Amino acid sequence: MNAEIVVLPTKQAVAEALADRTATALRAALEQKNRVTLCLTGGSTPVPAYERLAQAEGIDWGRVHVFWGDERCVPPDHEESNFAMAARTLLAPAEVPETNVHKMPGVCPQDEGAAVYEQALEQFFGDDLWFDVLHLGMGDDGHTASLFPGTDALGVTDRRVTPGLAPPSANVRERLTLTFPTLMQAGLCLVAAAGADKREAFSDVLDAYDGEGDGPPVAHVRVEGDLIWLVDAALAQGLTDD
Ligand code: 6PG
Repeated sequence: MNAEIVVLPTKQAVAEALADRTATALRAALEQKNRVTLCLTGGSTPVPAYERLAQAEGIDWGRVHVFWGDERCVPPDHEESNFAMAARTLLAPAEVPETNVHKMPGVCPQDEGAAVYEQALEQFFGDDLWFDVLHLGMGDDGHTASLFPGTDALGVTDRRVTPGLAPPSANVRERLTLTFPTLMQAGLCLVAAAGADKREAFSDVLDAYDGEGDGPPVAHVRVEGDLIWLVDAALAQGLTDD
């Protein structure tokens, strides 16, 4: 697996790199195309990145269409909503037009929500789905988007969107997620992860890249373009040459 791994000194530096690399990629894409696409992730790591990205120079947000890799099944103003986080940190400050915001439906049964987003993606992309920039994170169990270990979503290849978790499992909220084949359709995938609590998962990812073991879900992400890990020293310590 030819993934590039960039080790930054701190979690804040990871967020800054996520924002700056995204801004550079969006500006380049906007030079080439009338409209470009950005697929966001949820979680806490991207929060300062999205605040920084909203202030980036030279991005015509009127030509950037925003999607999500996953969403929790909650209302769009709920504190756990990935849309709510992005609206607060990026969409509002950058004044992204509402017509460019393609949020996943959170307030409906998972299968219904998946079908609604499937239709939205079909309407926008047709057969040519493509994310110029795709953001992903990684949980301490190696999940990415809402592709969790041991779930049916990992094996879904005939749809773009699927329920991310079985009906209420333990203390994790029901979710919707893009599927692996959909995540593949990206020009630049930036995976941002930080913190020592994720070191074991990241070690398993590196082993999987080296052909040793299957690795957690995030190790199975493949993209048409470039995949770049942005990790902090606390996570990568002793695992990479940096
Ligand atoms: C979500 C994300 C999820 C996230 C990881 C890491 O909806 O929560 O899509 O995949 O990226 O759980 O989250 P942190 O950045 O908070 O560690």
